[in-house]
Amino acid sequence: MVAIKLVPLAGGHLEFWYRIRNTAENRRHQPIEITKLDKMRLLLENFSNSNLGDSSQLGYKWVIYDHQQEIPVGMVSFHRLQIEQGIGRIGYTILPDFWGRGYGTAGVTQVLELIFTHSNMERIEAVCSIHNPASRRVLEKVGFSYEGIRRGYLKIRGRRIDHFSFSILKSDWNKSSDQ
Ligand SMILES: CC(C)(COP(=O)(O)OP(=O)(O)OC[C@H]1O[C@@H](n2cnc3c(N)ncnc32)[C@H](O)[C@@H]1OP(=O)(O)O)[C@@H](O)C(=O)NCCC(=O)NCCS
Repeated sequence: MVAIKLVPLAGGHLEFWYRIRNTAENRRHQPIEITKLDKMRLLLENFSNSNLGDSSQLGYKWVIYDHQQEIPVGMVSFHRLQIEQGIGRIGYTILPDFWGRGYGTAGVTQVLELIFTHSNMERIEAVCSIHNPASRRVLEKVGFSYEGIRRGYLKIRGRRIDHFSFSILKSDWNKSSDQ
């Protein structure tokens, strides 16, 4: 697997975050509106705490760095959906210049390891548009299980789009780590 490291999103990443979020190819299959830099500077506040053990913190973002070149190539996010039930959701984006080199798979794998090691989450969900086969492939490679289609799940630029629904349990993760 490609060598990466994850760094919690911080002020120094603002321009990278702006670039990756507002790139047309990255917005194509995600419900993301173009966001101004000033608004994103304010949003950064929501991710200032990267301690996964603090269950009052709802959202986390990490920047994926290529380990050898020390350059940022993508991001992975995690949100707590139901704290009491231990259910969360991840999302991920890689800059188009770096697609197809394994960064998405490596980033999601490392984030799951962090989540299952340092938080009380036991079920992580992910959805991807039925028109986004690369994203589905990432989830399959990491070990997520396919659960079906959520009809018209997200509205993307005015159209409700069917989404594939996936999940991975902490018990699946531990079993695959043991092998
Ligand atoms: C989805 C995304 C994160 C994948 O990142 P990546 O770094 O290219 O992912 P990886 O290289 O780890 O794996 C991609 C896999 O998808 C496969 N793939 C790519 N395009 C494909 C297509 N059109 N059809 C089928 N498989 C495809 C690749 O072959 C690879 O699988 P393989 O290793 O078995 O060959 C990236 O394309 C992206 O950022 N897209 C825009 C944002 C986005 O859609 N995020 C997900 C929202 S749910």
